[in-house]
Amino acid sequence: IEQTFVMVKPDGVQRGLMGEIISRFERKGLKLVAARLMQVSRELAEAHYAEHRERPFFSELVQFITSSPVLAMVWEGENAVAVARSLMGKTNPAEAAPGTIRGDFGLTIGMNVVHGSDSPESAAREIQLWFDGETLRYDKSVEVWIR
Ligand code: GTP
Ligand code: MG
Repeated sequence: IEQTFVMVKPDGVQRGLMGEIISRFERKGLKLVAARLMQVSRELAEAHYAEHRERPFFSELVQFITSSPVLAMVWEGENAVAVARSLMGKTNPAEAAPGTIRGDFGLTIGMNVVHGSDSPESAAREIQLWFDGETLRYDKSVEVWIR
């Protein structure tokens, strides 16, 4: 069963969208197996976005992610990585379809409300980085109606 790392970014927390976003993942049928509201350090932000280190927007991105708390989460389920990305919509909210999180709540690429791992390999790396790889194992009786 797949896991993915999802984060409500500082703009999403400040705008009161945590409940809305959690609700969308829950209703989809994914299971929350880790969550932490936290202030991100510069070190963690730079490690998380290491692949973008050479991009022109890197310092702006690190500045943004460390500017206010984020809600870090791990969601589990069949194809969790791809499903989470489809719930989120395209990176640029201007291009994201209505009905997706970024399509419904975002306006600019610099503040696109959520992050989700882009592959199972990225998910494993990010869950290790943000949660030391520690997630909960528990059953929900409704699962028999989901998978
Ligand atoms: P994440 O889930 O946040 O990783 O987004 P993504 O995988 O859809 O996009 P990508 O990994 O390519 O970019 C990471 C993040 O960098 C984006 O979510 C944006 O917040 C930010 N970003 C990407 N391109 C730009 C840009 O041109 N300008 C600015 N300011 N931020 C950007
Ligand atoms: Mg990415």
